[in-house]
Amino acid sequence: MPEITVTEHLLAAQMEWSPKATGQFTSLLHDLIVSAKIISRNVKQAGLVDILGGTGEVNVQGERVQKLDEFANKTLVYRMRTCGAVCALGSEELEEPLIIPPEESSGSYIIYFDPLDGSSNIDVNVSIGTIFSIYRRREDATEPFRAERMLRPCDTQVAAGYFLYGPSTMMVYTTGHGVNGFTLDPSIGEFLLSHPNMQIAPRGAIYSVNASYDRFWDEATRECVDSFCHPAGGQPYSLRYVGSLVADFHRTLLYGGIFMYPADTRKPDGKLRLMYEAAPMAFLAEQAGGKATDGVHRILDKTPLSIHERTPLIIGSSEDVDHVADIYRRHGRG
Ligand code: AHG
Ligand code: MN
Ligand code: MN
Repeated sequence: MPEITVTEHLLAAQMEWSPKATGQFTSLLHDLIVSAKIISRNVKQAGLVDILGGTGEVNVQGERVQKLDEFANKTLVYRMRTCGAVCALGSEELEEPLIIPPEESSGSYIIYFDPLDGSSNIDVNVSIGTIFSIYRRREDATEPFRAERMLRPCDTQVAAGYFLYGPSTMMVYTTGHGVNGFTLDPSIGEFLLSHPNMQIAPRGAIYSVNASYDRFWDEATRECVDSFCHPAGGQPYSLRYVGSLVADFHRTLLYGGIFMYPADTRKPDGKLRLMYEAAPMAFLAEQAGGKATDGVHRILDKTPLSIHERTPLIIGSSEDVDHVADIYRRHGRG
């Protein structure tokens, strides 16, 4: 396969699907990619933090070493704010949305991100990631942007994806025309197309859930998990749970199966956030032929009431997600 960079791939896709594109979206993606390369560089040095100065202290370069999630957030906020394509952003690390004044940027896009997903895994050198989700603003770009306009129906995403900081750094994204995966070649500093047209198998053999919460689940969720662990007349599914959504979703995309973060008595809306965790993954899953639901509703049919809204998430191979939805329905949900 010839080497195709993510920028070349994006430009070719734009010629095909949006020949009138103004270049704003390309410049947004470009700055997002630069942010991820910077975050990736720091992630790869995470274990050296004490040698390089220690969190909160001044390192040998005379720079203050920040916590990685704080660093990732600052990097993304700075680049999204200055790329000229964004009018508002929502981040897991910011309580309120950041509205960029029109004199600073008349950009047409709204972006949500989880700057560092799976941050509890940083100190043990396990895969983490960055998740993003992009919407186009509907009204005239010269009008001041109002915060409530951040609350967009999830099925109006124009792009979504993630960067995975694993053994290699990857970018996986969709603009609604399938899902493509790129691997960072550190020797040339480019993301190269390594996983074209990614598809989730209709059925998998892996389930992924934090099974130690079973005492907080309802009967329906217990039955779902039990059916993967003890299927009638079949082989049991294997259990895999990293605890970084990006890593657990990436495996589900490549190997098939199901990931669940259901509601429980302690977390009646689950844990994951709709706008920068569940919705972008749902867009990717559907574009790869899979499904995503909160147990009752398709994730992409949801519209948030607040930017940090949580939702249960059941996502992966279409038949496995249907199987869970059937059990929930039998228990009177939906
Ligand atoms: P974040 O690090 O961005 O706060 O997200 C952590 C999330 C997600 O990555 C993962 O799927 C989930 O938390 C794991 O939660 P539990 O520890 O409750 O299983
Ligand atoms: Mn997260
Ligand atoms: Mn996070």
